[in-house]
Amino acid sequence: MIVTLTPNPALDITYAVDSVTLGSSHRVGSVRERAGGKGLNVAAVLTSMGREALAVAPVGEASASFFRADLGARGMAHRLIESPSPTRRSIAVVDASGDATLFNEAGAPQPGAVWDAVEEAVAGAGAPGSVLTISGSLPGGAPADLVARLTEHAQRLGLLVVVDVGGAPLAAALAQCPAIVKPNRVEAQAALAAVHGSACRSGIDRDDVVSLARGLVDAGARAAIVSDGADGLYLVHHDVSLHARLREPLSGNPTGAGDALTAALAATVERHGGLPAGRDAWIEALRHGVAWSAAAVLQPVAGDVDPDDVERLLSAVEVEENPA
Ligand SMILES: Nc1ncnc2c1ncn2[C@@H]1O[C@H](COP(=O)(O)OP(=O)(O)OP(=O)(O)O)[C@@H](O)[C@H]1O
Ligand SMILES: [Mg+2]
Repeated sequence: MIVTLTPNPALDITYAVDSVTLGSSHRVGSVRERAGGKGLNVAAVLTSMGREALAVAPVGEASASFFRADLGARGMAHRLIESPSPTRRSIAVVDASGDATLFNEAGAPQPGAVWDAVEEAVAGAGAPGSVLTISGSLPGGAPADLVARLTEHAQRLGLLVVVDVGGAPLAAALAQCPAIVKPNRVEAQAALAAVHGSACRSGIDRDDVVSLARGLVDAGARAAIVSDGADGLYLVHHDVSLHARLREPLSGNPTGAGDALTAALAATVERHGGLPAGRDAWIEALRHGVAWSAAAVLQPVAGDVDPDDVERLLSAVEVEENPA
């Protein structure tokens, strides 16, 4: 079982308009609503790829029935913790050319009891050997150590934890030695700045993705994968240090590609009952990570992948050693 936690879900609203003109009013052609958030994307990708996943998220009372209906219609198993704090909205205004203008609310603070219920839900859902993914931002006022606390609790229960958050929450979680961390380049830079206070003292080259991945391992992660958009991903685990990417980058919608990568990593960790052991096992894991995430780029909506695209893209992945 893979449990995917979304601490800060959103009601994703998409408005279709002809064009966007600042300072004027617009007639909205169509409105689409969807239960959104990074961990929900992870669960959606796993579900599309035929893996068993359970999406856990705190959801405002007023949005709970919509979330249940939407996730149910998409065939996604879920456990929602109802909260008096309303769920934030993310609004995408898409014009006739397909360009999107985004307005993302931050998310209202959650009462402490909601975080306790989230922790209980995770503990109740995952047996030892299960995988927990923690993805995305935290709502305003969330405890700085929330991700660290959840990681520590889950690991004590025998779950393997994959952390896809950035900045200070990732910095705090590193101290709990999660199995895998998967920030993108910017998130890794922010986390390591929070760990070391002063980047120039850390010995980490913030412009070098391998150095960032190594820095995350040195700070506590058992394995670090730093994703870097079309340039693929960089892994450091013990003495295995690899770069994997698609031979030819794709054009499309990269939003949610990182979530598909997290889904692939969770599926690998679940299948192995732990981290891949050794270089060859990692090469196989990274091939899947790149193929799943690249397949997400081909879909217009975050959280979607077509298993046929994944199958086709697997043979287009190249993996090489990172420079020493
Ligand atoms: N244009 C592209 N072509 C091929 N693969 C891509 C492209 N963009 C992203 N990817 C794949 O997706 C992975 C994750 O991308 P990225 O680093 O943008 O994640 P992210 O910033 O965490 O995204 P998000 O948080 O929106 O899901 C990359 O490591 C790469 O394998
Ligand atoms: Mg991401």
